[in-house]
Amino acid sequence: MTSLTTCADAEAAAKRAAGEIARRLQSARRERGAAHLALSGGSTPARAYELLARELEDWRDISVWFADERCVGPEDEESNYKLARDTLLGSAGGLEQSLVHRMEGELGPERGAERYANALREHAPLDRQGVAVLDVIVLGIGPDGHVASLFPGAPTLDVQAPELCLGVHDSPKPPPERITLTLPVLRAAQRCLLLATGAAKADAVDAMLAEPSRHVPASLLRRGRLSVILDDAASPEPPNERPRAD
Ligand code: 6PG
Repeated sequence: MTSLTTCADAEAAAKRAAGEIARRLQSARRERGAAHLALSGGSTPARAYELLARELEDWRDISVWFADERCVGPEDEESNYKLARDTLLGSAGGLEQSLVHRMEGELGPERGAERYANALREHAPLDRQGVAVLDVIVLGIGPDGHVASLFPGAPTLDVQAPELCLGVHDSPKPPPERITLTLPVLRAAQRCLLLATGAAKADAVDAMLAEPSRHVPASLLRRGRLSVILDDAASPEPPNERPRAD
């Protein structure tokens, strides 16, 4: 069952997300001795990442992956890695840099995706089909319902296990060239945590919670392993029917 939580504003939603991510990483590490987190880019998660750096004081045995990346270098303003480094990785106490797995956007879609798939096979837990099983994947959602760099109606939505990572050449959201985890990896995760704030996301959230459709990639996520954290503005539910965090 998808857990859906509505918070008063973006700051409260970021705090709620940071708290849930920290709890899930700690319990995964307790159970399995290590934990695997994947991060998304975009503007929405930045504050949650800042809060997470403080929420989880000890980052030992935690591997950090990425849900997607733009095909730019790690110092580029568009880089999801740079966003994560500047808001979280640079201040995560005890984080081992060797456990931070950056998508090498500068290598281009194909080469970057191939190397990342190899890194997942080598360093991430795999299920019987050979799909990487990450503990928490943090996702945003586009106004068109895309998640990571999986866009509405795109052939990338059709790849099957054990495909782990793909190059994207024609992203409708700039920049056009990207690298993304596949839907099988998003669906195999112990938990996907989708954070959405602002009125521009309300229709996409509504479509995500409706019937699964290739036109709304977010609706193809595994609902039994999905946490959706919203602020009031992004919530499609009438105010008196919103499952509240506060
Ligand atoms: C990216 C993201 C992408 C993002 C959504 C929402 O690299 O662009 O990973 O999937 O999460 O586009 O972006 P905003 O948070 O900026 O609205």
